[in-house]
Amino acid sequence: MKPFRTIIEPFRIKSVEPLRFTHREERVAALSEAGWNVFRLHADDVLIDLLTDSGTGAMSSAQWGALIQGDESYAGSRSFYRFRDVVQDLTGYKHIIPTHQGRAAERILFHTVLSPGQVVPNNNHFDTTRANIEVEEAEARDLVIPEGKVPAALHPFKGNMDLQALEKTLAKEGDRVPLVMVTVTNNSGGGQPVSMENLRGVRALCDRYRKPFFLDACRFAENSYFVKLREPGYGGKTPKEIAKEMFSLADGCTMSAKKDGLANIGGFLAMNDDRWAESCRNLLILTEGFPTYGGLAGYDLEAIARGLEEVVEEPYLRYRLRSTAYLEEKLDAAGVPTIRPAGGHAVYLDARALLPRIPPLSYPGIALANALYVEGGVRGVEIGTVMFGLHPDGSETPAAMDLVRLAIPRRVYTQSHIDYVAEVVLLVAAKKETLRGYRIASAPKVLRHFTATFEPLPA
Ligand SMILES: Cc1ncc(COP(=O)(O)O)c(C=O)c1O
Repeated sequence: MKPFRTIIEPFRIKSVEPLRFTHREERVAALSEAGWNVFRLHADDVLIDLLTDSGTGAMSSAQWGALIQGDESYAGSRSFYRFRDVVQDLTGYKHIIPTHQGRAAERILFHTVLSPGQVVPNNNHFDTTRANIEVEEAEARDLVIPEGKVPAALHPFKGNMDLQALEKTLAKEGDRVPLVMVTVTNNSGGGQPVSMENLRGVRALCDRYRKPFFLDACRFAENSYFVKLREPGYGGKTPKEIAKEMFSLADGCTMSAKKDGLANIGGFLAMNDDRWAESCRNLLILTEGFPTYGGLAGYDLEAIARGLEEVVEEPYLRYRLRSTAYLEEKLDAAGVPTIRPAGGHAVYLDARALLPRIPPLSYPGIALANALYVEGGVRGVEIGTVMFGLHPDGSETPAAMDLVRLAIPRRVYTQSHIDYVAEVVLLVAAKKETLRGYRIASAPKVLRHFTATFEPLPA
């Protein structure tokens, strides 16, 4: 296959789902009705949905086939043991606790191990991770390397943890740190990978200060493939070998199987510590279900088990990272500011750089996301001041970056869909002087971006 440059989708399509085309006026009306928040739109009014890569992927025929094998026994289901074996083979962890999605694993872990006033370091916490820490009155502290905060800065592993900053936190406030986390890939920082060298550095610090180390492993396979492509010494290893080594450096993980589980729902919490696992299982029974199903159907466990096997296949990962980079390169060539290099699961537009006349507290990310929808029916999501700017004390400051994430669902869209998305972004960029900021009309106190309503500011 070497002489060919084109990296093709490593699948063919067996079943299709029609898209609904709308006119600009219809989209303006739909968005206005939705309080100018794309989360509140009816999905049928969206043409290309890049809101998230979470749970939106296409399952394989083998996964659909596995569904019928699901054992729906309440306790001791055969599907649980298949799921457990696959997760254990990959991660090596002793305790495998299924949950209905990633945030349930986070809530159970943090409610079990955190006390008020404690600090959890991470490269960048994702929004649900941060919220589940803050709800326990603890602090979610982001310690990504400086390059990870500059959208245009090129670095092969922009998701790396700042090891000096982590050491400072552990040396000064170690008694308040119950565990250290690293998110692979770093979603809030642009889907950027973390190197094995960096993970080994985190492990060494955790050993020195006797702290458990957990991965937020949602995109472990994409991270493994970046390691294979970019880190010296890993080019000859398979993605699965790299993933296993990555998990072996940590003591446990939280996981949303809606990402690199290639499933539409599901997650898990995994760890080696017996005492923490027992407390977590007790909480699981209270809110999720019996420990052999954890809020999932037996058929979900089957789909995840199969998905975790497919996601580390090299042709899939090669296509996956290439198709994301393809969109980023098109936008970059046209001068649209993005986080560079491309992340694994998404392209991140730098709304603050594109719309300098809209100050962060007038939400340039919302202005850009809304314009992409109005002009072309493309739905992305603000990752910026609306998502991260509100603090537990009620104060609001600009987030580190104001981005719009275009997340690519796994195995769903073809190259021509992506070519269309690039055209829409370029059209909006050409009209940037006409875009207006927004103010918040209503919002809840926690995770406000999901349900807030907005009003456009006067021109
Ligand atoms: C890095 C990261 N952690 C945790 C989560 C939460 O997972 P879930 O949506 O399954 O609750 C997400 C979801 O997007 C994520 O990207």
